[in-house]
Amino acid sequence: MGPRDGLQNENVQISTEIKLAVISALANSGLKEIEATSFVSPKWVPQLGDAFELWGQLPPGPLYSCLVPNQRGLHRALEAAAKRIAVFTAVTDEFCEHNLNMSVDESLAVFSEVVSEFRGQVPDGWVRGYLSTSFECPYSGRVNPERTAAALIRLFDLGVDEVSIGDTVGKAGPKEVAALCSEISAVDKGKVVWHFHDTYGTAVANTAMALQHGYLAFDASAGGLGGCPYSPGAGGNLSTDDLVYFLERSGVPTGVDREKLAHASEVIFQALGRSPASKAQVATLACSP
Ligand code: HMG
Ligand code: MG
Repeated sequence: MGPRDGLQNENVQISTEIKLAVISALANSGLKEIEATSFVSPKWVPQLGDAFELWGQLPPGPLYSCLVPNQRGLHRALEAAAKRIAVFTAVTDEFCEHNLNMSVDESLAVFSEVVSEFRGQVPDGWVRGYLSTSFECPYSGRVNPERTAAALIRLFDLGVDEVSIGDTVGKAGPKEVAALCSEISAVDKGKVVWHFHDTYGTAVANTAMALQHGYLAFDASAGGLGGCPYSPGAGGNLSTDDLVYFLERSGVPTGVDREKLAHASEVIFQALGRSPASKAQVATLACSP
């Protein structure tokens, strides 16, 4: 998520060259899927206004995906020859209105058309659906698992290949993850991804709980960069460095070189004028200056 979720909230404009260098370093570390950018309105998210230019220069290797918020975004993504797109809605109208200027129902109507047009144009394409505010909404508070499970089914009904369940604000704890796992137990686990933000430091614990329930796909951002401009107070994503360390120590091979990964996002932190803060990244860099 680093180049997309990791950067969308940063006010310091990162150049396309730096983004490409980081993406290349992430690919060299062994990461096979990278969400590279968003074809959203540059008026809403100026940091990712270079989506088209960036997409055309992505280094070969990984599978790249991009966010599209509407038909306009889809057309830009198609023009860039994107084959993997992500649409995004939420459980709560309050967040969806802030993020997309649409209610949940309106967003699903827009995305239904986006997905069917994309399928028509790119028969071998792939579509992810994001479900934000799956545990908590920054505007309307706690969200119960029954409500999230119902929203998850509506998102799958659009014909997406997988759904990424977002703890957008980063407030969930493992017991809430377990409750949601029970609620969605009838859904194919291979089509569910967990997207934890680490605002309160619970992202690894939440990952452990989902892993224990049989899920194997997790979103993360190099160095724990990230946040959502429309989710006040949300911290960065689960750090890819923390995730890889945790998985490897839990006996789950990742194919990622931790040292290369730890160095990959350094240039972004330099550009942002901050030091890396993810525990595993800091520890790895200390042993590999
Ligand atoms: P709007 O203002 O209602 O749309 O925004 P509009 O149709 O009135 O358009 C406004 C202007 O933007 C127009 O330009 C459009 O042409 C242009 P003007 O006529 O004023 O010159 N425009 C576009 N330009 C380029 N690409 C486009 C596009 N669409 C319109 N696709 C809109 C509606 C959906 C566009 C806006 O709300 C938007 O872009 N929202 C995206 C917000 C966003 O990126 N949020 C962060 C990603 S979601 C997230 O982080 C959560 C996630 O990580 C999971 C989790 O953590 O839970 C995925
Ligand atoms: Mg996110």
